[in-house]
Amino acid sequence: MTEQRLAAMAGPLLDWYDTHKRTLPWRGTGDPYQVWVSEIMLQQTRVAAVLPYYQRWMEALPTVEALAAADEEQLMKLWQGLGYYSRARNMHKAALMIVNTCGGRFPEEEKDLLKLPGIGDYTAGAIASIAFGRAVPAVDGNVLRVAARVAGLQEDIMDPAVRKKIRALMERAMSQDRPGEYNQALMDLGATVCLPKAAPACARCPLSGLCEAERLGLQAALPVRTKKAGRRREELTVYLLWRDGTVALRKRPEQGLLAGLWEFPHVPGALEEDAAARPLEKWGLVPVEWRKKITAKHIFTHVEWHMTGYLLTVRGDGGGFTWADRETLEELAVPSAFGKYLAEALKIL
Ligand code: ADE
Repeated sequence: MTEQRLAAMAGPLLDWYDTHKRTLPWRGTGDPYQVWVSEIMLQQTRVAAVLPYYQRWMEALPTVEALAAADEEQLMKLWQGLGYYSRARNMHKAALMIVNTCGGRFPEEEKDLLKLPGIGDYTAGAIASIAFGRAVPAVDGNVLRVAARVAGLQEDIMDPAVRKKIRALMERAMSQDRPGEYNQALMDLGATVCLPKAAPACARCPLSGLCEAERLGLQAALPVRTKKAGRRREELTVYLLWRDGTVALRKRPEQGLLAGLWEFPHVPGALEEDAAARPLEKWGLVPVEWRKKITAKHIFTHVEWHMTGYLLTVRGDGGGFTWADRETLEELAVPSAFGKYLAEALKIL
């Protein structure tokens, strides 16, 4: 029953896609590089947020050769604000592999795509189907939701075995003639019609009538998804140190969260002004004027930062910081986690 229901999706889904597909810059080009860049950017980020990044990236790095030749600082700047920066680093490594060992030709088979850094089942399926017409599913969160609802599947989609099963079902159910469009139709349906929680627009869904969740009134309950482990909470005191028309920055370590990006100096703990003066001493800086307190919060996948920040004028020459004027600051990649401090810095420089 499940199999038949899923197999019956292809016709109405592709008809719907023909008239409702979103116009997106990487669609219809067949260029694997464009498909790849778009899929990596879209992994954790919505289409609307990706569009300006995608345009800028393609202007700066229009080919896999251009990406392979780019330097890390440029890539981080192009990625600034998108988050999950390892995505850009992995693309760079993969571009070097494609240029140096594949003669600049993109691998066409799923199994070869999977050997590239940053390419997992989903992305390999998306590239193989969209750019090369291979009948391989591309199962992301949207597709899991549509499939679980249509099939009325009540198993936990956070369970890898359940995902594997859905992927196998989709491999059999998908269109063999138009696999790339089929996969993208599912993505579009998931993003614009078969919306999460209690918000699906079943009245305009081409799969209404086929859908088991709709028949049973289970749209809001499906897919079943166990809760993720909670996030760790970290308190930070951030320093926006102003000195003679410059602000202090430092580079993060090359490993771990936000690796290699630029940040405002900070120390652990939520320190009040008195206590916050002590690290300055250690850095060899003298506070001249405490100008403003700025609190901010940033949520990552596994950790959330609660930041207490101070804008202050200092003198002295310690800390080993890079003192950036406006022009330098605009060139460096400072992650969104520090966005409030960055905006404040740009106001005073
Ligand atoms: N989300 C991820 N990849 C997509 C694509 N190719 N089209 C639309 N939405 C997507």
